[in-house]
Amino acid sequence: MTAEYKVQGDIAVITLNNPPVNGLGYATRVGITDGLAKANADAAVKAIVITGAGKAFSGGADIKEFGSPKALQEPNLLSVILAVENSSKPVIAAVHTVCMGGGLELALGCHYRIAAPGCNVALPEVKLGLIPGAGGTQRLPRALGVEPALNMIVSGEPVKSEMLAMLPGQKLFNKMAASTESLLEEALAYAAEVADARPLPLVRNLPCKHPLGDAYFQFARNMVKGMSKNFPAPAKCVDAVEAATKKKFDDGMVFERDLFINLMWTPECRALRHIFVADRAASKIPDVPSDTAQRAINTVAVIGAGTMGGGIAMNFLNAGIAVKMLEMKQDALDRGLATIRKNYESQVKKGKLKQDKYEQRMNLLSTTLSYDDLKDADLVIEAVFEELGVKEAVFKELDRVMKPGAILASNTSTLDLNKIAAFTQRPQDVVGMHFFSPANVMKLLEVVRGEKTAKDVLATVMAVAKKIKKTAVVSGVCDGFIGNRMIEQYGRQAGFLLDEGCTPAQVDKAVEKFGFAMGPFRMGDLAGNDIGWAIRKRRYSEKPDMKYSKTADLLCEKGRFGQKTGAGWYDYVAGKRDAVPNAEVVQMIEAHRQSLGITPRKISDDEIVQRLVYSLVNEAAHILEEGIASKASDIDMVYIMGYGFPVYRGGPMNYADQVGLFNVVQAMNRFAQNPLDDAKFWQPAPLLARLAAEGKTFN
Ligand SMILES: NC(=O)c1ccc[n+]([C@@H]2O[C@H](COP(=O)([O-])OP(=O)(O)OC[C@H]3O[C@@H](n4cnc5c(N)ncnc54)[C@H](O)[C@@H]3O)[C@@H](O)[C@H]2O)c1
Repeated sequence: MTAEYKVQGDIAVITLNNPPVNGLGYATRVGITDGLAKANADAAVKAIVITGAGKAFSGGADIKEFGSPKALQEPNLLSVILAVENSSKPVIAAVHTVCMGGGLELALGCHYRIAAPGCNVALPEVKLGLIPGAGGTQRLPRALGVEPALNMIVSGEPVKSEMLAMLPGQKLFNKMAASTESLLEEALAYAAEVADARPLPLVRNLPCKHPLGDAYFQFARNMVKGMSKNFPAPAKCVDAVEAATKKKFDDGMVFERDLFINLMWTPECRALRHIFVADRAASKIPDVPSDTAQRAINTVAVIGAGTMGGGIAMNFLNAGIAVKMLEMKQDALDRGLATIRKNYESQVKKGKLKQDKYEQRMNLLSTTLSYDDLKDADLVIEAVFEELGVKEAVFKELDRVMKPGAILASNTSTLDLNKIAAFTQRPQDVVGMHFFSPANVMKLLEVVRGEKTAKDVLATVMAVAKKIKKTAVVSGVCDGFIGNRMIEQYGRQAGFLLDEGCTPAQVDKAVEKFGFAMGPFRMGDLAGNDIGWAIRKRRYSEKPDMKYSKTADLLCEKGRFGQKTGAGWYDYVAGKRDAVPNAEVVQMIEAHRQSLGITPRKISDDEIVQRLVYSLVNEAAHILEEGIASKASDIDMVYIMGYGFPVYRGGPMNYADQVGLFNVVQAMNRFAQNPLDDAKFWQPAPLLARLAAEGKTFN
């Protein structure tokens, strides 16, 4: 039983106790209904208090039951709330710390509510592509007022209890307690006060109207249009709340239920729920137990104050962790420092950062030209030039000076981490921390696990990632790790599409319509086309059989590296990010096509998207099979957090699962027939072929 029952004087107290947030799983629900039955049968009990143990009243649905039939098993949440409403003795919800989703819906079913200050109150279902499904859309507008309730339901954002209690006319909280500590005592006193009051007040009986009626809901619909472009849920939130103002309570409940169930099966909702679970799963490494002892990380050193070093340092400063930056020359340090300052100053100017916070952060930063100054750092992250010789010199120095037990991390994007580890006498302490540019903005961190990386080093780095608010995904050692290894195949396909008849703008548009933040050519211009060029030059000698389109090389030979040179696949006006198609580039592509004797054909947006997305999927299947990624959902997180893959499609693996792996393989077989494409690449990875044949999915 995950709810405790106790009688204190003549008040029964039901305490939800299902850590960490008292999720309303089956056993907890049974605990509540059993407690209610006991209290109602006990003549000595006059009122009932429901509260939560530990760090929450309740965070809502139990994520362990997510999408499983257990979530609906009786007593489901609707039945629990009905039992609360039907209790012949008053039920008082005593809420504190976290009161969200089903937790808030449960509280709304109670006859009275008392809240501790500082309690985060929310109906966050919209973030999972849903609307509240246990009366939240019908009761919150009645208790709080239509407008504030709709704002909470559409945004899913938490609001502090004391703010809500200040809303004029609100009936959500009958009373505010002085503190979380005194909540139970105050709730017991309040319960005694209302014990004999009859009839028992129910939120369902409160009136629900907006003075502007239809006009208000029209306005609300316009407001959510932007955010609901690819997501059906926000608009349904408006529909449900409107129903609360127009329908009888019970009819509104049926309406809410229908909307909820219909949303549950949309691909968008499935994708969002998948990401929610994937995000939590990413920090779990199969052979590194969650109780693995961690090393203490209080100070950090960063080697190299360039593009990445500066951004990496900022992450730690933002988290209140002191950073020492090392460079070879004073002017490089000065430049790095100036860039960090400029970054923070622009945040201050935009009002995103307070002046005193800025100063606090800068005070945590120090610089040095000497390795000996780094010896006490707990973690050092190297972000110097991408050359093995340079890395060797740096890691040998680090091995010489760093204290025993310090973690030595490299931000390399392409080099072999095992080789880097072997430059030291302590390869167990070496790990990859692959940040994405701009490192202070991008949420993704690939944690690269070397052959010898110690488990406590991994556990520590995953915890550090959380502290600096990154989504960390573990990758094994391979060229490009998870993300860039996949993007290379995607880039190759984009090149073939140009050769066969597309323009860069056509490809980008198709992919952006699919939902990517940016198509491959705009992305190349942003990242710098010279980076891909350098990689291809290496590939031409390493993998002479690998087929590439040569257009990207021709572009680079013209010096069109992208935004940084003002010209790439597109033209750019200084200070602006708008990509303007360039006729000469299109001519260059046509001339190259002609030189290859290719007659251009019209390629549909569907084909463009399928070839690009399935190229990611096939490479990902190899990555999974080789154990570079430990689970498919990790790959989805990499693409959602680091590569602008559309959130509402849940990542490439989730998307492939939704399309059906059998269909994906069929399409690959078709692409393999195209003489201008790479038939060898389109051989489905063995794992993909097997799953498709067995009718299974990646996730
Ligand atoms: N730029 C990106 O988008 C990106 C993304 C992920 C990872 N990376 C990786 O991050 C690393 C750094 O890349 P960057 O883009 O910041 O390069 P950068 O050229 O902007 O900065 C490198 C800095 O390292 C300094 N440096 C070079 N040798 C040094 C040494 N021996 N000791 C101390 N400092 C030294 C240089 O003076 C320079 O300031 C590379 O390994 C790169 O592959 C880059």
